[in-house]
Amino acid sequence: MPKISTLIDADKIAARVREMGAQITKDYVGMEIVLVPVLKGSFVFAADLAREIDLPVAIDFLGLRSYGDGTKSSGIVQITSDLTKPIEGKHVIVIEDIVDTGLTMQYLFENLETRHPASVKLASLLHKPARAKVDIEIDYLGFTIEDVFVIGYGLDFAERYRNMPFIGVLEEQ
Ligand code: IMP
Repeated sequence: MPKISTLIDADKIAARVREMGAQITKDYVGMEIVLVPVLKGSFVFAADLAREIDLPVAIDFLGLRSYGDGTKSSGIVQITSDLTKPIEGKHVIVIEDIVDTGLTMQYLFENLETRHPASVKLASLLHKPARAKVDIEIDYLGFTIEDVFVIGYGLDFAERYRNMPFIGVLEEQ
């Protein structure tokens, strides 16, 4: 069995997600928003964040696949499952698990802009600035992390570990 060390425990995640939800609630008071979780990695974070937002929200999922060799993204992105409704004139918050090189979010934001939403903001649980290739503005950020490959709380390695309730790092096997 590979050894997994804890990077951010479940309590710390919950506290931060609560703060992010409160901030979004404050910023969008009186407005209706569409939450767009990016599958698959953000499904756990999105479920928790949505429940910390005290506003009327619609939720529509978007599936993306970013091609790469194992743990590295190439910037070639495919929409595997698109939104079910138009977002024209809507206030959209994209929910992402982690911004690494930023290439996936750059692609997605360019794509969403063509659909003429009223606004698009980004909520990301994690950011790995050491590996940034493009500058992505993260409006609501959970944690900044070092250049390590993380798993758990939705994030996978070869489709495993998404159901771990904390964020961990796979140690040398
Ligand atoms: P980017 O295009 O390099 O920013 O890659 C973003 C996507 O790569 C994320 O949505 C994740 O699915 C995946 N990813 C990047 N870093 C990690 C990591 O440390 N663990 C698990 N998935 C990661």
